[in-house]
Amino acid sequence: METILVTGASGKLGKAVVEALLEKDFNVRAASRKTSRIKWTDRVRPVLFDYEDPGLHRAALDNIHAVFLIAPPLDSKAPEKLMPFIDKAVKTGVRHVVFNSVMTADSDEKNPLRIIERHLIHSGLDYTILRPNFFMENFLSGWIAPMIEAGSIRVPAGGAATSFISVEDIARVAAACFQERRYGEECDLTGSRALTYGDAARMISDACGRPIDYVPITEEEMAQLDRQKGMAESSIGYRARLFEAVRRGHMADTTSVVRDVTGKPPVLFEEFTRKNCYAWKIHKAA
Ligand SMILES: NC(=O)c1ccc[n+]([C@@H]2O[C@H](COP(=O)([O-])OP(=O)(O)OC[C@H]3O[C@@H](n4cnc5c(N)ncnc54)[C@H](OP(=O)(O)O)[C@@H]3O)[C@@H](O)[C@H]2O)c1
Repeated sequence: METILVTGASGKLGKAVVEALLEKDFNVRAASRKTSRIKWTDRVRPVLFDYEDPGLHRAALDNIHAVFLIAPPLDSKAPEKLMPFIDKAVKTGVRHVVFNSVMTADSDEKNPLRIIERHLIHSGLDYTILRPNFFMENFLSGWIAPMIEAGSIRVPAGGAATSFISVEDIARVAAACFQERRYGEECDLTGSRALTYGDAARMISDACGRPIDYVPITEEEMAQLDRQKGMAESSIGYRARLFEAVRRGHMADTTSVVRDVTGKPPVLFEEFTRKNCYAWKIHKAA
């Protein structure tokens, strides 16, 4: 049974990818800077891993032929961290890398994830590039979740819509890409329809039984909130560019890739809220 190295295995997407690979009968080597974050099983083995510590890379890649590659989020220095790792993967005998990029990355050659995409494409490895839209799970455990706890979603999205996608769908596509050896494919991954943040707030309100509203804020207001949380200026700028794309309507497109690859329609936002309403209800009680 083949073992796949999953980077970012403790994160929202990485965890879902581990689950999807197990369903496809792969074994997983799950990389994290803190291995206690990984649940050890007979088919999931944690490995200590940090892009910034090259001394850990060889052990992570030992006897590995396929890698799910995730960049640290909002990291403008991601290319200088991931590109040497891709080069090392070439040397250690990796054959296939599935790289998780982001929707619209390919429309900006300076986008850090696009720089990594190009490096991978020219690496000689078999590659698959997934470009997902914003994750639904940001509302649950990401940076938007505390806003829900506080009663209002405050992002600079204006009235524009986003075709949010669940990490479960991205993970199922990723697992199929490994199993079916979908080499050389590049695809945008989205939910089946686009929703505004106002729509999302209303659906979460309905699910958790208390009012959650959407307050459109300016980019500068978001930057101030991020600065108060100690976020690096480069990450603040990174997030601002993502929301510029949202406001321009570039994140509203939908594709049929999830259904085409997995044979199932993407998770609907209502299904996501129904499934997770308990978590938001706990927030209410806290
Ligand atoms: N969230 C979205 O809406 C969205 C949309 C499109 C694309 N993406 C992209 O999808 C990827 C995953 O996002 P996510 O929301 O799942 O992120 P997340 O939940 O914040 O998890 C990030 C992961 O990155 C790992 N990581 C951070 N710094 C690292 C380093 N120096 N070396 C090795 N691993 C490191 C963390 O692992 P440890 O801390 O355990 O080491 C963690 O598992 C990111 O590249 C993001 O840009 C996200």
